[in-house]
Amino acid sequence: MAYSLTFYLILTLLLTCNLYVHACYTSIISFGDSLADTGNMKLLSIKTHGTTPHFVFPPYGETFFHKPTGRCSNGRLIIDFLAESLGLPLIPPSLAMNATGNVTGLGHGVNYAVAGATALDSSYHEERGEYTRTNASLGVQLGWFKESLSSNCPTVSDIKQLIGSSLILMGEIGGNDYNHALESGKSIHEVEGYVPFVINTIISAVNELIDLGAGTIVIPGNLPIGCSATYLTIFYGSNKVHYDNMTGCITELNKFAEYHNELLKTELNIIKTVHPQVNVIYADYYNAAMQVFLSPHKYGFTNGALKACCGGGGPFNYNSSITCSDPLSTLCDEPDTYFNWDGLHLTEAAYRFIFKSLFEGTYTTPQFRSVCPTSRLRPVGGGVASSM
Ligand SMILES: *[C@@H]1O[C@H](CO)[C@@H](O)[C@H](O)[C@H]1NC(C)=O
Ligand SMILES: *[C@@H]1O[C@H](CO)[C@@H](O)[C@H](O)[C@H]1NC(C)=O
Ligand SMILES: *[C@@H]1O[C@H](CO)[C@@H](O)[C@H](O)[C@H]1NC(C)=O
Ligand SMILES: *[C@@H]1O[C@H](CO)[C@@H](O)[C@H](O)[C@H]1NC(C)=O
Ligand SMILES: *[C@@H]1O[C@H](CO)[C@@H](O)[C@H](O)[C@H]1NC(C)=O
Repeated sequence: MAYSLTFYLILTLLLTCNLYVHACYTSIISFGDSLADTGNMKLLSIKTHGTTPHFVFPPYGETFFHKPTGRCSNGRLIIDFLAESLGLPLIPPSLAMNATGNVTGLGHGVNYAVAGATALDSSYHEERGEYTRTNASLGVQLGWFKESLSSNCPTVSDIKQLIGSSLILMGEIGGNDYNHALESGKSIHEVEGYVPFVINTIISAVNELIDLGAGTIVIPGNLPIGCSATYLTIFYGSNKVHYDNMTGCITELNKFAEYHNELLKTELNIIKTVHPQVNVIYADYYNAAMQVFLSPHKYGFTNGALKACCGGGGPFNYNSSITCSDPLSTLCDEPDTYFNWDGLHLTEAAYRFIFKSLFEGTYTTPQFRSVCPTSRLRPVGGGVASSM
């Protein structure tokens, strides 16, 4: 009898431990733009009777969800793979949550990312004659988060508990501050002047979250935007830029992205010395993606890394007036063999590859597995296995 009780206790303990091994974090709290939006812009456009974004129509979502979800891809994003690997359900967009939601109501996480969002407030861009797609800048997203914390007046310790046990994904954000300016005709040199302001905004948000009790924050840098079909199309045939002969990407724009990333890393290192107890993790989107731009075939992207799967034709299958989902646009047969989905955004296969490079590989600093051991992660499923 005592024997079986002991056995029962050990079994319970083992089961409890087994559950625990998957739980590095109880939730994900995310801020950002279209690289992480899981449906906010879609809901926002319905709520405000605004222009319906093209990415709420097929073929968006076709590969994994089999319907458009408001994600700017054919399937899952990096945040979706992250949730899967942490054993959490997919993180809902904040605007889909009940407005009266309290802290426990935040459940397994909440995603404030909005497609088109900038780091700087939209007034910064409006003052400079640049269009903005949404007012939901990083500051606005942080405001939504703080509002949801205070809506049910939980105690400060409740808030610290929730935030401290969450993985916070701070971005990618900032890419659109540059996209909007460059697309409005500003020179690369001129837009370089924005970088310190963008970095300051991101750093202030990180500090604010640390003050609220954050224990782990992942901060992605910018992608190699000189490899984006959008910019390759905008600058096509122009003699204003140079091309990297290893990748076919625009050298000046990639240098620009690296400048943003260097400044971001410098500031993050300062935060790390001030708050050594917080896991401040830089996610190197740039070099994770660069592996593919250098050798697309090696990683299964047999249709190359530059040409979009879905778009309005032209040398990179991108045309700003015929976007993916437009009746005149064309869709590739095998999205998994493309890195670029619609010109600006990436395919699910690309996001899976970047996710693995970051969270299972070596492209975060410090390495994610030193913070959350691989044994606590679940393999991410579905689709064509990455050859990493
Ligand atoms: C939020 O929940 C309350 C209570 O469950 C409900 O009355 C209300 O309609 C919900 N609001 C939304 C926007 O879903
Ligand atoms: C907060 O939300 C949770 C889950 O929806 C609910 O069980 C709890 O009663 C709520 N608490 C308050 C104070 O409203
Ligand atoms: C942003 O806010 C301004 C002022 O509140 C408003 O006029 C404008 O329409 C908004 N833009 C978008 C895209 O929501
Ligand atoms: C590529 O560019 C580098 C430096 O710009 C040059 O040294 C090299 O010869 C070039 N390679 C090819 C294959 O053109
Ligand atoms: C985009 O499509 C429009 C309409 O068909 C066409 O006039 C234009 O030349 C195209 N642009 C590019 C860059 O291919």
